[in-house]
Amino acid sequence: MTKPEDPNRVLIFDTTLRDGEQSPGISLNTQEKLEIAGQLARLGVDVIEAGFPITSPGDFEAVQAIARTVEGPVIAGLARTHVADIDAAWNAVKDAPRPRIHTFISTSDIHIEYQLQTTREDVKGQARAAVAHAKQYLDDVEFSPMDATRADVEFTAEVCQIAIDEGATTVNIPDTVGYTMPHEYSAFLTRLYELVPGLRDVVLSVHCHDDLGLAVANSFAGVRAGARQVECAINGIGERAGNASLEEIVMLLHTRQADIGLHTGVNTREIARTSRLVSRLTGYSVQPNKAIIGRNAFAHESGIHQDGVLKERTTYEIMDATTVGLEANSIVLGKHSGRHALQQALAELGFEVSGQTLNTAFKRFKEIADKKKQVTAMDLEALLTDELRGEVVGYQLEWFDVEASSRRPPHATVGIRTPEGEEVTGSFTGDGPVDAIFRAINAATGSEAKLREFRVDAVTGGQDALGETSVVLELGGVTGSGQGVSTDILEAAGRAYVRALSSAVRRQGVTAEAEAATEAAPEPISAP
Ligand code: KIV
Ligand code: ZN
Repeated sequence: MTKPEDPNRVLIFDTTLRDGEQSPGISLNTQEKLEIAGQLARLGVDVIEAGFPITSPGDFEAVQAIARTVEGPVIAGLARTHVADIDAAWNAVKDAPRPRIHTFISTSDIHIEYQLQTTREDVKGQARAAVAHAKQYLDDVEFSPMDATRADVEFTAEVCQIAIDEGATTVNIPDTVGYTMPHEYSAFLTRLYELVPGLRDVVLSVHCHDDLGLAVANSFAGVRAGARQVECAINGIGERAGNASLEEIVMLLHTRQADIGLHTGVNTREIARTSRLVSRLTGYSVQPNKAIIGRNAFAHESGIHQDGVLKERTTYEIMDATTVGLEANSIVLGKHSGRHALQQALAELGFEVSGQTLNTAFKRFKEIADKKKQVTAMDLEALLTDELRGEVVGYQLEWFDVEASSRRPPHATVGIRTPEGEEVTGSFTGDGPVDAIFRAINAATGSEAKLREFRVDAVTGGQDALGETSVVLELGGVTGSGQGVSTDILEAAGRAYVRALSSAVRRQGVTAEAEAATEAAPEPISAP
């Protein structure tokens, strides 16, 4: 990607599917990644970092599928400086209309000495070789000196100079462990500009982690210092405390544009929907008071505030909720709505569905419309995301019976369809009806999964609201997360549990694949 001519344009590089997917418990399959990537394209991000192709065949396949189908953004694949990594990244992204290879190596002594167990000279050599190798394949090459903010700035500058000499078109300065402070990061970048004048001819990028809660503040400081690409993730997901949150940095630049003078290409009205999709598919809920997309971000509790907002919205609101796509809940369907009306309503929500998916969605819609007078856009969105998730290969909840009473322990029996297509059943008497269902699922599948988190939310307000449940469980040291949607909380809980179980089983397979690859690889494949 060439540097935009407009000096005030900030490129948004979304890493939800790469750094974001490295969050504990998140394991998205190709279909889910495609769904998120399509929505990121609608959101108008400039670059989608679709994955780290060398890490597993599943990651490779997902990056390739995104490169082949998602139009608009540049599609990037991550690679260490090894030839095999770069070749895998290239093979995964090469069918994209605008592919990118993002290669990285640490420049901090702490990483060089303890993790890479090598020397600064070797790091320079590896950076040079990696960028040169990637450049044989394509023009758009990004280079990151990992852990830069804890590294010697002079040495990092030398490595960046090498990357630029070899043709890197974007240089990204990561605050890998979320250690830096805004004034320090800004000074670091300013010094880099002094030491590497060629940085002005490429795109300078920032990538900040949130370990001290400063990821957005640091990214903003970086932009003020001259960076014109921000690496960020939807809902701020990512390694440990996460990455800079896309919605926060974008809305900061948008809301204060008159003062800052910078802008992005993001369609802010797609923010809320993207956030909901990512939250549903990853199982990572958004805290209620989260800036921009938390359910309370535009709620006013105090009487004085409510009074002010009723008189004039701007008394207590610096943004209009509709600007981020909240309160766009106008579609309403009922039990008499037909298949075509459903298809159209879904298209308005950005879901192009037909064939079997439409049939299943229609069947679920009818079931829900029978129980709920009005089915809103939020309901449809929850329902469809649930259906798309249902296509995941794994266990399926076929049916369940629960006997609940305050006078004797609840008893559940479940029927589960295994990935091989066989129906297995299991029963359990638990502490509560949900516990009984979860343990009956364990009994049916012969697994020893342990529940770590369970949450129930209502998709919309009202007594007949759809319930959305979220489960995180642990299976043999691996976590899995899943969600379920239904008018019946117990059914939603059961669905969420089998999905979390399927996800944990899949993750166990990925870990085994990575371990097998490690035996062949020169050093462990550790996600940055
Ligand atoms: O945090 C980090 O340093 C990374 C790099 C790969 C950019 O994720
Ligand atoms: Zn990172």
